[in-house]
Amino acid sequence: MSVTLAFDVYGTLIDTHGVISKLQEIIGNKAQVFSHTWREKQLEYSFRRGLMQNYENFATCTDHALDYTCKYYKVSITKQQKHALLDYYFMLPAFKDVKDELADLEAANFRLFAFSNGSAETIEKLLVTAGIRNFFFGIVSVDDLKSYKPNPAVYNYFLRKARTSASNAWLISSNPFDVIGAVSAGMQSVWLKRSPDAIFDPWEIEPTIVIESLSELNTKISLIESQTNNQLSQK
Ligand code: LAC
Repeated sequence: MSVTLAFDVYGTLIDTHGVISKLQEIIGNKAQVFSHTWREKQLEYSFRRGLMQNYENFATCTDHALDYTCKYYKVSITKQQKHALLDYYFMLPAFKDVKDELADLEAANFRLFAFSNGSAETIEKLLVTAGIRNFFFGIVSVDDLKSYKPNPAVYNYFLRKARTSASNAWLISSNPFDVIGAVSAGMQSVWLKRSPDAIFDPWEIEPTIVIESLSELNTKISLIESQTNNQLSQK
């Protein structure tokens, strides 16, 4: 059976800091730090809502995190500017390597899924706009469960929806919390270290594989899969 690849979306395929150019138009030279705080708060709000079991969708976490970030940097934006920024979040660009590498992985017979905190409708729109929707067999959203990564239930839900088993599925993410969540839930996982400065949380849980570019994915996963198949056939 083909190996299933579950791609995280924000930060892995889609560049959340693509919003910086739009932010620059509105708030000038604080755009970069603003974008980082916005993203960190968005994730923090999703974690907290997951724990509190007080679910609102990821777009709401993004919206509330934007309000927080404006207060934090003492920036005031108009309603129209806020709408423009939130609308831009549906049109964020894919990282440069994504299109070609997804095409190669699809041609190599992997089953590709997008697996995200974003609602299925949002992710559909985002992937279509980025020109990469056609590479995916399907989209799986945590929204169906009304919880968030890294709740183990959402990784198990992915496996059920993709009709695969943990031993035959890989999560690919640039977000260490997502990789740790997937491994903790029994999946194999790839950490895509997009920046040399990125730090993997120093816990007792390691990624199965670390790559620095999506171009390494096919070779590294295929090697591990063939070693596993050899071990199984020797038993
Ligand atoms: C996602 C978050 C983790 O796309 O960015 O699921």
